[in-house]
Amino acid sequence: METKIDEIATGIYRLSTFVPDIAPPAGFTFNQFLVLGDEPLLFHTGLRKMFPLTLSAVNRLIPPERLRWIAFGHYEADECGAMNEWLAVAPQAQVAHGQIGCLVSLNDMADRAPRALQNGETIDLGGGKRVRYIDTPHTPHGWDAGVLYEESTGTLMCGDLFTQLGNGSALTEGDVVGPAIAAEDLFQYSSLSPGMGSTIRSLAELAPRMLALMHGPSFRGDGSAALRALADDYDRRASDRGFVAADRIKAA
Ligand SMILES: [Fe+2]
Ligand SMILES: [Fe+2]
Repeated sequence: METKIDEIATGIYRLSTFVPDIAPPAGFTFNQFLVLGDEPLLFHTGLRKMFPLTLSAVNRLIPPERLRWIAFGHYEADECGAMNEWLAVAPQAQVAHGQIGCLVSLNDMADRAPRALQNGETIDLGGGKRVRYIDTPHTPHGWDAGVLYEESTGTLMCGDLFTQLGNGSALTEGDVVGPAIAAEDLFQYSSLSPGMGSTIRSLAELAPRMLALMHGPSFRGDGSAALRALADDYDRRASDRGFVAADRIKAA
């Protein structure tokens, strides 16, 4: 296995490892995002057993000990399995995650105390980069779920949202909603709930110009439209299960 590196937006690098054995014949990618700045941030640590690969990829861009922040979407092996390995190689690094994730898992599981972020709280990384943490509970899964938005480039690091199969190009301007619907049909990885559509729709208000997918290409284009289309599909799924979408309850 090898890890490919692509700069998807100024100072934001996608580190992508393709695993052909998952969901063959298409296979599946695991992507981390390194945001450069005075205080570099890694979004997703990669699987613990892939740490040598991810470490060597980061090492091609910066000395790993320079890493200051470790963030991820939720507590799960591909999102944060190598968290303590990173804390060991980067003495200044600290995990930053939402309040729920810190209370439920990270205060205990992280080898150094994490920084618990409020919903909407920002971290200034220096060098013109600033990231905002946004809670997305149970969306697509995990009570502690959240996303990270880099404001200067309009890049939404959206974790498992828009998950798709295959190993296409690092960047696409094509459809990312259809492949996400197909992967949801196959894996059924989301915690369908009445609030899921409205949670995804609220991210559209950020008007992201880039969606950085953990499992799939990065999408450059109208991020709001893609998020709204994905939200509509989850509303459809929820309604098929007899749920009434949360924003429709509020509107009633
Ligand atoms: Fe996940
Ligand atoms: Fe994931």
